[in-house]
Amino acid sequence: MGKKVLRTKLCDILGIEYPILSAGMGPTLIGEKTGAPVELVVAVSEAGGLGVLGGSGFTVDELRVAIREIKAQTDKPYGVDLLLPPRLATRNAMGMEGIEELPLNRVIETLPEPHLKWFKKVVEEMGLPDVEVMLKMNTTTMRPKEAIQVCIEEKVPLFCAGLGNPGFMVEDAHAVGMKVLGITGNTKNGRRIAKSGADLLVAQGHEGGGHTGRIGTMALLPQVLDVVGSVPVLAAGGIGDGRGLAASLAMGCVGIWVGTRFLATDEGGALDVNKQRILDSTDEGTRVSTAYTGKTLRANYNKFHRIWDDSGLEPLPFPNQVLLSSALLWRFIEADKMDHVGGLAGQVSGLIHEIKPAKQVLDEMVEEAVDILTRKIPEEVIAK
Ligand SMILES: Cc1cc2nc3c(=O)[nH]c(=O)nc-3n(C[C@H](O)[C@H](O)[C@H](O)COP(=O)(O)O)c2cc1C
Repeated sequence: MGKKVLRTKLCDILGIEYPILSAGMGPTLIGEKTGAPVELVVAVSEAGGLGVLGGSGFTVDELRVAIREIKAQTDKPYGVDLLLPPRLATRNAMGMEGIEELPLNRVIETLPEPHLKWFKKVVEEMGLPDVEVMLKMNTTTMRPKEAIQVCIEEKVPLFCAGLGNPGFMVEDAHAVGMKVLGITGNTKNGRRIAKSGADLLVAQGHEGGGHTGRIGTMALLPQVLDVVGSVPVLAAGGIGDGRGLAASLAMGCVGIWVGTRFLATDEGGALDVNKQRILDSTDEGTRVSTAYTGKTLRANYNKFHRIWDDSGLEPLPFPNQVLLSSALLWRFIEADKMDHVGGLAGQVSGLIHEIKPAKQVLDEMVEEAVDILTRKIPEEVIAK
């Protein structure tokens, strides 16, 4: 049997063979490697999809190096995803210009008193060891303006804004031939991003891993499709095989943006413990929590969620909550309290039973979707 063909408008827009993007995935905690590293990007792009680098874990310099590594390993299109803080780029997100690195232990001393008090209480009650992690002040999230400039200078084929509206940079991106993608979890932001000139929109349902909204994918997709005019929409949240791909295309989407399924591949950048959690997970294995970043974020459910909920604290604004959560998570890891550690992952985890090469995941998705979409509907289903 010949190679399967599955083309949509997205393939023409991005110059790719299959309408499948591996999602931009950053690290769960400061200092961890990124979930969508160069290896995953190259594997997905080489397989005919489009791999997106999870750029939020890199320093600005590391981002440029990673982009050049991708270019050296594939001549296929690829993307870069950044988490842009609110009121972006007009300032350093932490207000600490010129500082390259600070000890995380020192930085958390500057957190609000109730949060610091809670942190110290948890450390004391659980007998957690001191862990020294250096907080890089020149990451893409701290220096979004510079990070975007790197993407423009390197003419990254697809820029993906993991948070916020990328409308402000569309003109500069288009001037060098780049495309811009925004992500939304509701119609209000979807409409806003579409109006701002973004080329593509991802609509991600509540099921998805990482930052996520309140609306389920099945309800979200048609509502977003109805309000964004001619801007092509990709489906995300809970897509793990060809059934999800076929359903997304049937809804009217031009393609899919897949996180958790590509995280759990040979090339996916998650810690081994978190890949194993995905394999062990059922459909009920993940929950949404503000514990990690201060925003609603889906991760493997673990005791960290529970102690955060019990704290009664309001989450700190992004990215400050990341400081608090990272300081604790590294201590849990050091103390081998692994029941307090879980990676970002979506509800689709329960569907994932094997770590495979990313190319195999993509090929199987295409194969299954083509089978479904070309299947003859039994007469009794549509007969009058
Ligand atoms: C480990 C992990 C890290 C993530 N990090 C980011 C990120 O840095 N930026 C972003 O835009 N989305 C991030 N996401 C969300 C994904 O881009 C994607 O929208 C989501 O995984 C789709 O849902 P799925 O997991 O059900 O496929 C992350 C998701 C996971 C699982």
